[in-house]
Amino acid sequence: MTIQVTGIGRLNSEQVNSVLRSAMLAPSTHNTQPWLFRCTGTGIELHADPRRILPVTDPDGRELVLSCGAALFTLRTAIRASGFHPATTLVPSRTDPDLLAVVRPLAERTPDPKISRLARAIPHRRTNRRPFLSRVVPDATLAVLRHATELEHSWMSRLDAEQCRRLQDLTERARRAQFTDPAFLAELGRWTGLGANTRDGVPSYATEGAPADESWLLDEFRGPHSNTGPTPLVVMIGSLTDDRIDRLQAGQALQRVLLTATGAGLDASFISPPIMVREARAELRRLLGCGVWPQVLLRLGYGAPLPWTPRRSLEDVLLDTLITA
Ligand SMILES: Cc1cc2nc3c(=O)[nH]c(=O)nc-3n(C[C@H](O)[C@H](O)[C@H](O)COP(=O)(O)O)c2cc1C
Repeated sequence: MTIQVTGIGRLNSEQVNSVLRSAMLAPSTHNTQPWLFRCTGTGIELHADPRRILPVTDPDGRELVLSCGAALFTLRTAIRASGFHPATTLVPSRTDPDLLAVVRPLAERTPDPKISRLARAIPHRRTNRRPFLSRVVPDATLAVLRHATELEHSWMSRLDAEQCRRLQDLTERARRAQFTDPAFLAELGRWTGLGANTRDGVPSYATEGAPADESWLLDEFRGPHSNTGPTPLVVMIGSLTDDRIDRLQAGQALQRVLLTATGAGLDASFISPPIMVREARAELRRLLGCGVWPQVLLRLGYGAPLPWTPRRSLEDVLLDTLITA
């Protein structure tokens, strides 16, 4: 059965289906896809799905909100590329903490070519955990990525060689703390290394060719015992506070950066242990010395094409929405 959601405002049924399917292609921690959508007569509500929180890895749902923010930016971009303005209200309810945003497709607009480029990148973006080529990312590209972050009210800083060296040490220690926790390992085992017929979680083919420990990637251009060679491009996306709205904004900034990077031929992967482990995150803040709350660490570079990581079906992520079969 092909699911068809009814039209919303000026978006017809086909367009609603298409923008929702685009939003579902956003990245999420362990590919949990922790989002739900409710289509009302006038807009699309984005809800966090509390059943998909990772209680050990992400006890306060910070990464869950970031992932939903990435889905929100994708939804907005798909609506804009369809020729409508996505009027967006963040965290609109005092009583429903899971309702993260409402997007109302309003007046028709000619799509901006920059937005169309971002929209075209949506199905091509992948998390690439493999080593990258030793080709340097131009400063002009980094400036464009920084601008993309700022457009979504977040901040980006690039780690210099010394900060990358200290981050490598911090990542190793944070991973050790995680990997000696049986509850963490059990949760990781539930969501990663899965067979190819899964609709969520990380299939084993997505991590093939990746080092077991992501801290090694920070050393990839230098070789294990040398200090020569270019420093990999590692950036931090951060926010001024660590509240729900700022996390949601940082998630939107993350996806704007990832889609901009994809459009520029770049690949990206995440270095999350130093942010997931509370003590390591405090140390990371000191290491960066810029006062913002680190939300995401990304490694960016040029890599080889990768297969797609699967998603749930549209009906799995719809909350009591009118559907025509
Ligand atoms: C907030 C956030 C944190 C993530 N952290 C990691 C990580 O530490 N290690 C990793 O390999 N992937 C990480 N990922 C990537 C997800 O595993 C990936 O998005 C998911 O498996 C879907 O695959 P795709 O990005 O290729 O579509 C993270 C994603 C998000 C949104």
